[in-house]
This record gives sequence, C-alpha cells and structure tokens, in this order.
Amino acid sequence: MRSTKAVINLAAIQHNLSVVRLLAPGTGVMAVVKADAYGHGIVQVAEALTDVEAIAVACLDEAIKLREAQIKNPIILLEGFFSQNELELSLKYDLQTVVHQQSQIDSILALKPEQYSQKKLKVWLKLDSGMNRLGFTVDDYSAAYSQLSNSVLIDSINLMSHLACADDITNPMNQAQIGIFKEATQSYTGLRSMANSAGVVAWPESHFNWIRPGIILYGCSPMVGYQGQTHGLKPAMTLQSQLFAIRNLSPGDKVGYGSAWRAKEKTRVGVIAIGYGDGYPRHAREGTPVLINGKKYPLVGKVSMDMLTVDLGNDDQLSIGDKAILWGKGLPVETIADCSDTIPYTLLCGVTSRVKFEWVTKNPDEG
Ligand SMILES: Cc1ncc(COP(=O)(O)O)c(C=O)c1O
Repeated sequence: MRSTKAVINLAAIQHNLSVVRLLAPGTGVMAVVKADAYGHGIVQVAEALTDVEAIAVACLDEAIKLREAQIKNPIILLEGFFSQNELELSLKYDLQTVVHQQSQIDSILALKPEQYSQKKLKVWLKLDSGMNRLGFTVDDYSAAYSQLSNSVLIDSINLMSHLACADDITNPMNQAQIGIFKEATQSYTGLRSMANSAGVVAWPESHFNWIRPGIILYGCSPMVGYQGQTHGLKPAMTLQSQLFAIRNLSPGDKVGYGSAWRAKEKTRVGVIAIGYGDGYPRHAREGTPVLINGKKYPLVGKVSMDMLTVDLGNDDQLSIGDKAILWGKGLPVETIADCSDTIPYTLLCGVTSRVKFEWVTKNPDEG
C-alpha cells in the first residue's frame, strides 16, 4: 500500500505552546487553528490545546465544526461574521467575533435584543493600524466603539489590531503600528491583542493582554530566515513516504518529465511515492533535500503528480521500502519552503486529502 502520510505529533504542539507561554508570560493565548489548524487537523489540534484561554478561527464553519466536536473554549471569529444570519449563529454557538467594518455594527444594532435576551456578544473591535486590510481607521475607531457600547446586545468590547511586517526585525512599521494601536485604544478599558507568532517572538511591546500565535504552535519560526529550532520549537507535522523504485543510470541518462535532469556520472535514482498531488511543491528546486534513513539526498528532475526522484549516488545501503521524510522531524519545512520560493504556511496548509493523516502524542525528541 502507498504509505504516504502526514504524522501529526500533538505533543509537539503542546510543547510549542509552552514555548509561547515562556515568550509572552501573563498573556491570554488565542491559539490560531484556522485553515484546518494550518493543515494539522482542526479538531485534533483544538482537543490537544484545551488549556488555552481561547481558540481563533477564520470563519463560522470552522467554529461550528469545533463546537460540534464539543470544544468548549471561547472561540473567536477573526474575520467576523459575514451576514446577519452568521451573527445569529455566532450567538447561538457562543462565539466571539471580530468587528472590523460598519456593516457589522449595523447588523448588531439591527438585532432585536428581546429575541436574544439570554445571549450577549463579546466583540473584538479591530483597528487598522497600517496594514490596510481589515479594521476601522484611527479616525473612525471611537465612533465604532461608541455605537457598540450603546448596544444592549454587547457584553464586552476588546480591542485588536494586526501587524503587517512582524516577521522582519528591521522593519520600522512594527514600532509605528504598536504606537498607533496604543494611542488609539488608550482611553478604553477593553483588553488588547496585537501579536501574531512573529509579534510573540520579536516584539514584546505588541504582547498586550492577548496574543494570537499560529504558525509557531506548529513548530515553525515566524521570522524570515530562521527555523523553529532556533526558538526551541518542535515540528508538529512530519510528511513522509517511501522509496518504492530504484534505477541504475549511466552518464547522460535523463530523468523524468522534460528530461530535466541528466546524470553526470554513473548513479542510482530513487523514486519516492509523493508528488504535487499530495501537496509537495511542484516548483521545488533541484537539490531540495529529502531525508532517507536519516541522510539527505537531493531532489533531481521535475516533481510529478504522484512521485519525485532523488539522486542516491552510489549509496547501496538504501533499498525499496525505506522511509523518506519530505519535511518535519530532521528536515525543517522552512528549508523546503526556501527551496520552493514559498513560505512554510503554504506547504503545511497544502497537504491534500489523498495523504493519510495520523495523530500521535509522543515525546518530540524521541524517534
Ligand atoms: C488576525 C490574525 N491573527 C493572528 C494570526 C496568526 O498568524 P501567525 O500564524 O503568523 O502566528 C493570523 C494569521 O494569519 C491572523 O490573521
């Protein structure tokens, strides 16, 4: 049977949470599990993180999935509700919501409180401190706050913003955004949240009351040019398959589609049962490492839909059936992202449904 699988170590995620808590002591953790927990399995990850103060998702469907799986933590909708109906469902499922534009306030004000007498809404009023994606401008923020505070439906108004360049330690935008957020929210009593993973790692001033770590929980460094191990993180996902064919090549023999790679000398090429149909990047460069039996071998030729090829050289220790790790334990996904001109987020989120997922809880330092 094709043994291509993603092994998710939930103990690694719990370990990474403990790293996060050390980096930002005294803050509430809103664990970001959107996009199927960055490809790691939203329900399994949320179940492993029940001691976080809250869970953050992008949208209502993700939140409902968690509630239906009996996740009891507070859940926050980072993009807020998209319609009046979603607002009603947010109340029904006891969700907190980001409010980032006037139409959402209009929906809240239009709800008849007598219909929801038992329920009240906790909101996170979002300030656009410079990212120009979501949120009220500095000029509109206080009017938005007053409208919400006059609604009987509102239980509490917390305050949030998002950093645009936190992964870049040299970027002055970070201090500027932190300053704008502080100033715009100074007269309100609500709790504040600004830091994503990179904010947690690199910008202590952005920690405020609540942090919103995502990628760091899965073991990746959020900082450009760094790897998770620099911060003491453990990779949560190991994507693996097996060597299932080996060919002996003579000098000049070509490999794969487009005959894109040519052997310079006598060598052996191994075929691994994983390809872009499984989420391995098609554009991974020649030389991208693949770990087989603990040793790195370079990718050669073009990645196909179901397989890829590596140059085994004259290593005759290898045989069919040997385990190949594409990323994860022993081979950081950050390396594969660099070799593919992308970011770890896209690789982790992009593992396809054809790949079998296995969730384990074992010491991340053991084999
Ligand atoms: C509003 C918000 N907060 C926090 C995060 C978590 O980001 P990261 O995975 O970089 O920690 C995201 C993710 O994109 C987000 O959109």
